[in-house]
Amino acid sequence: MKLKGRVAIITGASSGVGYATARVFAREGATVIVAARRRDRLEHLVAEIAGEGQQGFSIPTDVTDSTQVQRLIEQTVALLGRIDILVNCAGGMMKISPIEQFTDSEWRSIIDTNLTGVFYTSRAVIPYMKRQRSGTIINLGSRVGKIGIANISPFSAAKFALAGLSQSLAQEVRPYNIFVTNIISGMINADLAPLNPDETFRRRLLTTDDVAQAILWTCTLPASLRVDELPIMPRQVDL
Ligand SMILES: NC(=O)c1ccc[n+]([C@@H]2O[C@H](COP(=O)([O-])OP(=O)(O)OC[C@H]3O[C@@H](n4cnc5c(N)ncnc54)[C@H](OP(=O)(O)O)[C@@H]3O)[C@@H](O)[C@H]2O)c1
Repeated sequence: MKLKGRVAIITGASSGVGYATARVFAREGATVIVAARRRDRLEHLVAEIAGEGQQGFSIPTDVTDSTQVQRLIEQTVALLGRIDILVNCAGGMMKISPIEQFTDSEWRSIIDTNLTGVFYTSRAVIPYMKRQRSGTIINLGSRVGKIGIANISPFSAAKFALAGLSQSLAQEVRPYNIFVTNIISGMINADLAPLNPDETFRRRLLTTDDVAQAILWTCTLPASLRVDELPIMPRQVDL
């Protein structure tokens, strides 16, 4: 078991990549704290993990609310005494439109979910990781956070900024033996609303398990190796 004895917080764990990562981490022996807004889905996930003889806890959290995020981190430390890994999966594109059709609140919601949420979780977890003098933070970036494409400008802007946040934070915390990786992912066969592609196209995309395996790899690197950014793409699709 590659993560035996480790404590991992996974945001956005109620579906998609976060859900798959929680399952993979638990199978590798980690105790997982799963966070997202949909309580019923988190409880279902924790029951599945328990069914396989592993340990998981659900702490429903909206990552756009700094008070809820602070509580997520403090409850985890109170319960388990440490946090080894933080995986920031909460995010989403929400809408595909020309820029003039995005409202103020849609812009704020996309930036808050994909970027500010990572600021909140990182800010809350770093003091504990510094005290431990160890930690791993994984952010779910995107190919469109490196190459802008039309009609998703708020999402693209948030993921570009996330790459900057990850790079800056990585330099800041490296002296404390804390490492930050931004996974720059191509299209994943997950929720994908509002795109809703057909099944044939979906089958050509990355699976959520592919991404979970990439996350596991970045959390189990040899002591001499660090990965600041990890681009991953489906084999035959350049999106
Ligand atoms: N799908 C792709 O092609 C693709 C490509 C590159 C990068 N990504 C990134 O990968 C990450 C995972 O996405 P996915 O594809 O797995 O999509 P997904 O299935 O829609 O998962 C998104 C997760 O984020 C959670 N979430 C959304 N808003 C939240 C909030 N305010 N507070 C807490 N949790 C919140 C959702 O749970 P609740 O609704 O229960 O809160 C859900 O669990 C995202 O950051 C996404 O931008 C996806």
